[in-house]
Amino acid sequence: MPADFPRQLRSALGSWWREHARTKGVPAAASLLLAELWGFLRDSTPERRRSRYGDMEYDWEHRVNTTTGTVAWRERLLGIFHSPYQATDPSAFREMMAALSIDFREFTFIDIGSGKGRTLLMASDYPFQKIVGVELIAGLHRAAAENIAAYQARTPSARGMAIESVCMDARELVFPETPLVVYLFNPLPEVRLRQVIRHLQESWRKTPRPVWIVYHNPALESALAESQWLQRVSRTEQCSLYKVK
Ligand SMILES: C[S@@+](CC[C@H](N)C(=O)[O-])C[C@H]1O[C@@H](n2cnc3c(N)ncnc32)[C@H](O)[C@@H]1O
Repeated sequence: MPADFPRQLRSALGSWWREHARTKGVPAAASLLLAELWGFLRDSTPERRRSRYGDMEYDWEHRVNTTTGTVAWRERLLGIFHSPYQATDPSAFREMMAALSIDFREFTFIDIGSGKGRTLLMASDYPFQKIVGVELIAGLHRAAAENIAAYQARTPSARGMAIESVCMDARELVFPETPLVVYLFNPLPEVRLRQVIRHLQESWRKTPRPVWIVYHNPALESALAESQWLQRVSRTEQCSLYKVK
């Protein structure tokens, strides 16, 4: 077990508890915590573990390791207190990219909470100027870095592209001052997501530029819908697309 895992777990649990006890009250936070831990145990049975390999097709095709199936229990446990890793489905990703009416060459693609980096690989099918993944959990970030190296070694079209995974808390990200496509797929709990959107707005105020937000599975959409500086371009069941007004 990595030496810093107990510290990471204490810190993740502490922040989770403070946020939930403050916003929901102590009894509701305690019962949610029990439900999450029960869900973690249930998901650890051999049958449920096998079912997590259901997202393997992309990995077989590209010989990478982005599946949820091989995520270690430590990362799954930390995922309860941040947000669990789940990779974007390739056909959904293609549909979302097709909805962007932009010149990709001018834009940096940023995945907030990029996990094992599947979206970074898929984004390299488009001529983005730069592709960046921001991932909090070190084990997932390491897998992403390995995936990028393996994918670029085998895929001539991706070889010269600037693709990187950065291990950090997305709330501390300084957004690049280029036009941006910001990708969100259940990346953070609500309070933290609002913080990231606020930082993005501050960055845009300082340096006005085109910014698009692709929000896949928009479960916490109010965090964006209430933002006066954003307009919703489209909404389907799987994705809400926003851009600056
Ligand atoms: C649902 S997964 C999405 C993975 C990837 N974006 C994709 O679509 O394939 C959410 C990811 O957000 C990460 N995450 C959670 N909180 C974070 C934070 N504060 N900063 C950076 N990443 C975070 C989780 O560890 C997890 O890997």
